[in-house]
Amino acid sequence: MVQVVFEKVSKAYGDTVAIPGLDLVIESGEFVSLLGPSGCGKSTTLRMLAGLEQPSSGSIRIGDRDVVNLAPAARDIAMVFQSYALYPHMTVAENICYPLKKRGVAKADRAIKLAEVAALLQLEPLLARKPGQLSGGQQQRVALGRALVREPSVFLLDEPLSNLDASLRAHMRAELIELHRRLGKTMVYVTHDQLEAMTMSSRIAVMRAGELQQFAPPDEIYNRPANVFVAGFIGTPAMALADGSLADGGGHLVVHVGPLAVALPYAAAARPDAVTVGIRPEDVLVGEGPWQAQVRLVEPTGYETIVALDAGGLALTARVPGSNALRVGETVAFDLRRERIHLFDKSDGRRWEPAGR
Ligand SMILES: Nc1ncnc2c1ncn2[C@@H]1O[C@H](COP(=O)(O)OP(=O)(O)OP(=O)(O)O)[C@@H](O)[C@H]1O
Ligand SMILES: [Mg+2]
Repeated sequence: MVQVVFEKVSKAYGDTVAIPGLDLVIESGEFVSLLGPSGCGKSTTLRMLAGLEQPSSGSIRIGDRDVVNLAPAARDIAMVFQSYALYPHMTVAENICYPLKKRGVAKADRAIKLAEVAALLQLEPLLARKPGQLSGGQQQRVALGRALVREPSVFLLDEPLSNLDASLRAHMRAELIELHRRLGKTMVYVTHDQLEAMTMSSRIAVMRAGELQQFAPPDEIYNRPANVFVAGFIGTPAMALADGSLADGGGHLVVHVGPLAVALPYAAAARPDAVTVGIRPEDVLVGEGPWQAQVRLVEPTGYETIVALDAGGLALTARVPGSNALRVGETVAFDLRRERIHLFDKSDGRRWEPAGR
């Protein structure tokens, strides 16, 4: 059982501070995604764990060992990169077995390991081919196979699916989930694709400018984003965010946002005055309700239609089922799922909920 711990880990490149100070505990057997916009420090974090970068300060533990001063080969990890880096002159079988050969594993034992991994990744028919004769997804499986034969305690994957087309990505996503389920090994997965992070992870670490914003299971990240950044970053189409204020409506809380006064189904004794109000597209109910908005944009996607609305200066996005007959410029009535409105304290951007909710 192998836990991964970052403790006060920082990393600067010259004057550029990539990671100011990271504390993160990844439990044994977890599938954790590091998610965030380009340049937020995902790869740097993974590369420090792999031993490809030296932290400027802090400690990193894999299991019960502090690995900061250990060479990559001594860390009991295997890493899969975005570019598969297969050896072009070697066959698939030779590529997969290479780490074992380098380690001096006997030929007969290599063959046993190869057969196991090839069966797991369905690579048997491809073993005699060279990488140039494989599709992107097949090459990706070979790269995974090469990591698997080493039987590391921790797998590190840096955007391993980003070179694949959409359908192959979906397929490999499912395969990775299954692989993790079967192996039960700790996996740390870097991606800027929130769908990958949401579908595969036990927990997601959302990063921004080298700082951890929230570390929680996917449903919590989605349903209870810890701050305005996470709220706006997670979810497609994005949550509408607008300035608002809170008032007491006599036993329940009232949110004032744009021209709307929305009575919430709960009360609060103490509350911030100024808030950022977040409303997800699926919580805007078009058709009936106490408010009116003008349709600004209609985007049919097939099974649903994304509609941009202007409610007296308040910009909202709604998802409407099916191909809808809404027209740009028309006025529609709408309601909100009031219990699902997100509130963030304007002074620090953090999620705010009344005590006991
Ligand atoms: N070798 C380097 N020298 C100088 N700065 C670097 C180096 N590597 C990374 N950085 C900087 O550190 C920060 C974090 O980079 P990192 O590669 O970890 O981001 P990332 O989250 O993986 O981004 P992406 O999604 O684009 O891969 C960035 O500002 C980047 O420019
Ligand atoms: Mg990166």
